[in-house]
Amino acid sequence: MAGRLEGQVALVTGGGSGIGLAVVERYVAEGARVGVLQRSPGPAQALRERFGDGVVRVVEGDVRSAADQRRAVADTVAAFGGLDALVCNAGVWDYGRALERYDDDALVATYRELLDVNVLGCVLAVAAAREALVASRGAVILTGSPSGRFAGGGGPLYVASKHAVEGLVRQLAFELAPEVRVNAVAPGATRTALRGPAALGLGERRLDEQEQLTDAIAQQLPLGVVAEPADHASLYVLLAAREESSFMTASVLRSDGGVEVRGGGAARAAAAGAAR
Ligand SMILES: NC(=O)c1ccc[n+]([C@@H]2O[C@H](COP(=O)([O-])OP(=O)(O)OC[C@H]3O[C@@H](n4cnc5c(N)ncnc54)[C@H](O)[C@@H]3O)[C@@H](O)[C@H]2O)c1
Repeated sequence: MAGRLEGQVALVTGGGSGIGLAVVERYVAEGARVGVLQRSPGPAQALRERFGDGVVRVVEGDVRSAADQRRAVADTVAAFGGLDALVCNAGVWDYGRALERYDDDALVATYRELLDVNVLGCVLAVAAAREALVASRGAVILTGSPSGRFAGGGGPLYVASKHAVEGLVRQLAFELAPEVRVNAVAPGATRTALRGPAALGLGERRLDEQEQLTDAIAQQLPLGVVAEPADHASLYVLLAAREESSFMTASVLRSDGGVEVRGGGAARAAAAGAAR
């Protein structure tokens, strides 16, 4: 049976780990060839060895660099003959750092790092890929978060960055129409190596090593667990597949365990008690 992305070409930022890697795996399984812009050499090499250059092309670089973004687009287009879908996914989290826990220097440095990766990284990617996507009548898919809508899933800098990502979905859907559709997937808490800002000394901290934290988050969710990266992958396929989402643009698909209706733990027990 033909895959849902047979013959298509995608480019995924931060595709070497976590949700980005799950998207790359799924896109390849659906018949796509995939370029990846990846900062760290280890995951970049692992991707090359696993898939080979004919299926996945890896460019090492930083999403904050316009030159690296243009190199990734040019390499992908040269290798695979075009670009149908751009997935802007690379990101860092602020580990919920509240304003009162910053001194001024750390606040400015963290703002610059986190907003540059999470927001500028998307803007530069779309700028670099726009022409190729217009030519193919392709799709942009951004990785959002419940923090694009709610407070409490991060500190002010992360929450502001993901609100900005949802702003980009709307404005870019407007600007790139009718040729290019622009949507987002907003994954909720997911067991990944999501890191913090180097400006806070959290560049090597990994979310998937914070078991107490992920357990506490799971308790707050109606579904009672945090997600695995692959749980979100089919939504990225849906938004890339022209035949399956041809009338969707400016949408945010939420894959967050029902965080909006969270009651979890105590509230759920209380509701069960009240119902008896
Ligand atoms: N894990 C969660 O709970 C969660 C929840 C909501 C949203 N998200 C979002 O999902 C996206 C993917 O994160 P993940 O959870 O898979 O974590 P992850 O750390 O596994 O993936 C992030 C990727 O981005 C890359 N990256 C970071 N900074 C970069 C830079 N400057 N240049 C190039 N690449 C860079 C990392 O190397 C990594 O491959 C992020 O945008 C994150 O905000 C994650």
